[in-house]
Amino acid sequence: MEKIRIFGHHDQQLKGTVRISGSKNAVLPAIAASLLTDEKLRLKNIPLVKDVHSMLRLMKELGADGDIKKNTLTIQARGILSEEASYDLVRVMRASFLVLGPMLARFGKAVVALPGGCAIGSRPIDLHIAGLQKMGANITLEHGYVKAEADRLQGADIRFEKKTVGGTEHLVMAAALARGETVLRNCAQEPEISNLCELLVKMGAKIEGTGEEVIHIQGVGELGGATHEIIPDRIEAGTFLVAGALTRGDITLTGTEPGHLAAIIEKLRSSGAVIEMDGKKTLRVVGSPEIKPQDVTTSPYPGFPTDMQAQFMVLMTQASGTSIITETIFDRRFLHVNELLRLGANIEVSGDKAVVRGRTLLSGAEVIATDLRASASLILAGLIAGGETIVNEVEHIDRGYEAIEEKLKALGARIERLKMVE
Ligand code: UD1
Repeated sequence: MEKIRIFGHHDQQLKGTVRISGSKNAVLPAIAASLLTDEKLRLKNIPLVKDVHSMLRLMKELGADGDIKKNTLTIQARGILSEEASYDLVRVMRASFLVLGPMLARFGKAVVALPGGCAIGSRPIDLHIAGLQKMGANITLEHGYVKAEADRLQGADIRFEKKTVGGTEHLVMAAALARGETVLRNCAQEPEISNLCELLVKMGAKIEGTGEEVIHIQGVGELGGATHEIIPDRIEAGTFLVAGALTRGDITLTGTEPGHLAAIIEKLRSSGAVIEMDGKKTLRVVGSPEIKPQDVTTSPYPGFPTDMQAQFMVLMTQASGTSIITETIFDRRFLHVNELLRLGANIEVSGDKAVVRGRTLLSGAEVIATDLRASASLILAGLIAGGETIVNEVEHIDRGYEAIEEKLKALGARIERLKMVE
């Protein structure tokens, strides 16, 4: 078990430059896509985070060879050793369920444990399953495992009842090797899905409508190798933008994709922060002494991302007035609120809304990280809380943020990891 200790200060200002890593949510499906071909994929700009290592462990268990040099992953699934993705590996990360469709499409069979993942409400996979069934897969659930079989998947016309990022990625991959045309309607439009579609096209897939709500995929007989660059992590970038605004600091972010951050930038600007673009990939945030309250409602891209909700809530504890934060994507995604209350925040939750009353001066305390983005929010809060904050169960942060302490330290934060001997 590990803890992070932060020595915070109400006047803590973060200043300097930080390089944004590649996107965790883009690289995970790209790794799953390597199961669609016996040739090599080279994925550049991958983030060195725990979820990537977990995904690689799963791929190796299935029989793929993978090797990371600096931030490039070379991965090749010549055949498979096992068609079963075990619970031990799938339960730590929900995105690992995405290996089901590619294995089914290429080998005709796959057995994958039902996923776990972050503790943020019920996260079913019914839309993934229904889509694969519509493509002709025979799917059964046995002893906690999803067993899927199909001689060859057939193209189908599928409408997602609800926008799903993973569901869209899963069906695009499966459809790439199906017989005939698949039309996917009401697709999620997150940039990570477009990044995956671009990779699949390089591998030989025939996809039209990348980034749109309706995607047409003409199935092909086989796919080949490719070299592909993973997009910058827009949630890591958003977290550092909030850090700049929250500490009334001055942070330059390099290696970003500002176009993916429009909803976050808009809310931060309305709250008073100054955000400038410098060239194509650099953003600078300068925090304002007075933070204005903002109502925020999370929604699918291009709306405000649920993965930034917890971090933005911390900023609103420092606003001069009341903000209402509405979470529409996941139920139970307010687990960070109880921890923020321990630091002295004034937040009341009612259903899918959190009412944040600012400005409250936070004071350091011991808290528990409940999920990936909650842990980021607690670290941000710790920066401006007077005294010492200890974030317990901080392993969650390593799932998705590369070298978070080093990056924050370089900006002037006093933060350290405490390794506990059990
Ligand atoms: C992805 C992201 C996650 C982000 C989320 C929403 C990855 C690895 N993770 O998760 O960081 O918070 O998008 O932007 O990319 N749903 C169903 N049935 C399904 C699938 C989803 O009801 O079969 C529901 C979910 O419970 C949720 C909503 O749809 O309420 C959106 O979930 P989804 O977009 O699928 O999230 P993930 O792909 O799991």
